[in-house]
Amino acid sequence: MSLCHEERLYKFLHNNEWKESDTGEVIQIFSPDDKKVVGQVPAMSQLEVDQAIQDTANVQEDWAQQEVNDRAELLHRWADELEKMTDEIGEMIHLEVGKTLSSAKGEVKRTAELVRYTAEEGLRVAGGFMQGGSFPGGKNATKAIVDKVPHGVVLAISPFNYPVNLAAAKIAPALITGNTVIFKPATQGAISGLLMIKALVKAGLPQSVLNTVTGRGSVIGDYVVQHEKIDMISFTGGTDTGQHIAQKASMIPVVLELGGKDPAIVLEDADLKKAAKEIVSGALSYSGQRCTAIKRVIVMDSVADELASLIKEEVDSLTVGKASESANITPMINEKSAQFVVNLIEDAKSKGASVISEGVRDGNLLGATVLDNVTEDMDVAWEEQFGPVIPIMRINSEFEAIRLEKQNKYGLQASIFTKDIENAFAIAEKLHVGTVQINGKTSRGPDHFPFLGVKQSGLGVQGIGRSIDSMLRDKVTVLNFS
Ligand code: NAP
Ligand code: G3P
Repeated sequence: MSLCHEERLYKFLHNNEWKESDTGEVIQIFSPDDKKVVGQVPAMSQLEVDQAIQDTANVQEDWAQQEVNDRAELLHRWADELEKMTDEIGEMIHLEVGKTLSSAKGEVKRTAELVRYTAEEGLRVAGGFMQGGSFPGGKNATKAIVDKVPHGVVLAISPFNYPVNLAAAKIAPALITGNTVIFKPATQGAISGLLMIKALVKAGLPQSVLNTVTGRGSVIGDYVVQHEKIDMISFTGGTDTGQHIAQKASMIPVVLELGGKDPAIVLEDADLKKAAKEIVSGALSYSGQRCTAIKRVIVMDSVADELASLIKEEVDSLTVGKASESANITPMINEKSAQFVVNLIEDAKSKGASVISEGVRDGNLLGATVLDNVTEDMDVAWEEQFGPVIPIMRINSEFEAIRLEKQNKYGLQASIFTKDIENAFAIAEKLHVGTVQINGKTSRGPDHFPFLGVKQSGLGVQGIGRSIDSMLRDKVTVLNFS
């Protein structure tokens, strides 16, 4: 008898078996769209988490000994299985995190492409060779062979907003480099993550090479992060969580992709129509719940009125409603996040911001709001809203834009809109961010580009090649010939 959604328990993977927790404890996952229960996942006990990690550690050396071609073949089969499951996984992403069905399916397709590209890149990992004589006093009789070897067990922790793509972006590089994996999905998104792993099992995942850990990060997070058998952590999520993890995880490498406050800097000679379209799309797709969303507009005052009017025109044409109705602005992940955005808007209004367009709130569904004349005393100028609000700050010189960016505790990406490319490069050089987009919205893709945040936006680098590098370390063998 098929269970209806609310009763369906999606089990965790342990040594290629799907299991319930011995405690019988489960977490119900509610859809942000219609508040219905999408399913349940086990809340694993510490004992179960420990066993999952121990078993994964026990097979790591064998996995690393596998031919890299065989590891690459597993990833290619995984990509094939993901594509076959596009409808099933896409439907679950749509239900679980409130993405429209088309963008949810797009995430699955993008992930299959990422996994394939990772398989191919992983075949090209190379170490090095060094002659001792190239250093003063050294001798050519001393030769170094520099190999690249896996860390061991990689803990992959992913966020809710890309429950499949941002998880696979860690898992695939870890597997191709001979690491084994403990996968901790975001609880809101865990079912989608487990279905992604179902595809990996179908592809022929060897037993224990990857085990999943389900349960709230606030409950089991510290235990799994500090476990002695975890050799590297790749985390994507909020800055507070990332900083907490970095403090707990002593003496092992971590890669952290965290929050952002990406500015769109609009200069006097910008193509304002294009800038307005890029800003609205960049700020409001998936209701602004993207780390690389444009989270504030910094515009020269002389063109600010025209830009604000063009932004308003774009925003007012957007539909607001359920993800199941394929609306442009859809419900946020939860009421708490929606309230946080409303608080930022109310604070700005109380301090004198002008309301160009104001979204209506219905629970966790928040229409888009555009605020003009946002000043530095307003929280929305600095806090990551992670929701559908566009704050516009007016400046009278490019130096102000650079200052405002530098004062920002985040440093993920920035966009510059201008026809003067030489000037764009000059400004870009001064911005303390991971990536500068010139005449385009801030965004992570394509997935083989390096992707990083500085300051409180991250530590280390993702992007397929860089992720592969982060999952490896040097191993030097010195030959001392007489
Ligand atoms: P989050 O609340 O920080 O959670 C991220 C992940 O960390 C989830 O799997 C969460 O598990 C887990 N976690 C929570 N506390 C933990 C702990 N003490 N130890 C170990 N793991 C723990 O972030 P989110 O709400 O999912 O995503 C929104 C935030 O992530 C935003 O700030 C956004 O900017 C950022 N983000 C950044 C990027 C990027 O590439 N830079 C991409 C996406 C999102 P639970 O779900 O069980 O709590
Ligand atoms: O927040 C997720 C981050 O990775 C953004 O990805 O491709 O929407 O820019 P993207």
